[in-house]
Amino acid sequence: MQIVWHGHSIIEIITANETNILIDPFITGNDLTDLKIADCHPDYILVTHAHYDHIGDTIEIAKKTGAQVIAITDLAAYLGEQGVTAEGLNFGGSYQTDFGKFKLVPAWHTAALPVGDEAPRTLGVAAGFEMHIDGKVLYNSGDTALFSDMKLINHGKGVDVAFLPIGDHFTMGIEDAVIAADFVKAKHVLPIHFNTFPAIKQNPTEYLEQLEDGVGISVAIGESFEI
Ligand code: NI
Ligand code: MN
Repeated sequence: MQIVWHGHSIIEIITANETNILIDPFITGNDLTDLKIADCHPDYILVTHAHYDHIGDTIEIAKKTGAQVIAITDLAAYLGEQGVTAEGLNFGGSYQTDFGKFKLVPAWHTAALPVGDEAPRTLGVAAGFEMHIDGKVLYNSGDTALFSDMKLINHGKGVDVAFLPIGDHFTMGIEDAVIAADFVKAKHVLPIHFNTFPAIKQNPTEYLEQLEDGVGISVAIGESFEI
């Protein structure tokens, strides 16, 4: 499969049968992404949690493309109210596909969104995704702190690629994300969720150098890699 990092937490996955999966499409207001709404053609949109830098342009893209959105139940209910085709999962539950499945897994983080002029509305809690695609296992932790139950991802059997935030301030920083890579036994790690805002400024090279040789994936925004 082909994996493209579009900056921040935006991941695009193209499976062997050309299914397009888009995660956390935060385009409007994201000065660093290469992605344009017009260029998005997802079959699935996975949203980790109800913060604006993760929901992003999900509603507009899903309405335009008819993509199936998958998120935690409370967030999926909200997205459904906005006219989007959304399937709600809760922790431990999976959505089956012809190429594998998406399993919703815990994260330690909050999840609230300003709706209109109202105070921010809590829409479930933050989550991650364990994705089984074309016989490989990918883990997107979403925004999270380090927590020891990461050792349970894929039943402790390791993952082919982990997408882990390193930005600090709102999530794990570099030091904790090094330990997270170890906890999930990642063969490869793509650091995400850094440099988009001043508060999450980090040097990804500093992170990649602390991983075991060959584990870290270094791609520029808009670049892809194959696994
Ligand atoms: Ni967040
Ligand atoms: Mn975030």
